[in-house]
Amino acid sequence: MPEFERVAAVSEIPPGGRLSILVDDLPSLLVRIGDEFLAVEDVCSHDGQPLTNGPVEGCAIICPRHGAKFDLRSGQPLCMPAIEPISTFEVQVRDGEIYVRPRS
Ligand code: FES
Repeated sequence: MPEFERVAAVSEIPPGGRLSILVDDLPSLLVRIGDEFLAVEDVCSHDGQPLTNGPVEGCAIICPRHGAKFDLRSGQPLCMPAIEPISTFEVQVRDGEIYVRPRS
């Protein structure tokens, strides 16, 4: 089972905010929706575009290149042109710190 690694403090990300992080050397994105933190691979499964600056709608992020939308909880694509999911990570918040690990 992979270990959780600390990636940020809760205070670094306001509600609606996001932070670029590395998880196992993989560019990833930590997004705060209300009090929930979600972490996904920061690479669109359609053609490799970083999702870093993509708009967030509800619990989904939209690829800024061709408009594919991904569920931030499951990583599943919600519309074309993406047909493959992106990776999501387990997130834990403990004592004001955010920890992330790959799903096994
Ligand atoms: S690269 Fe993301 S939708 Fe095409």
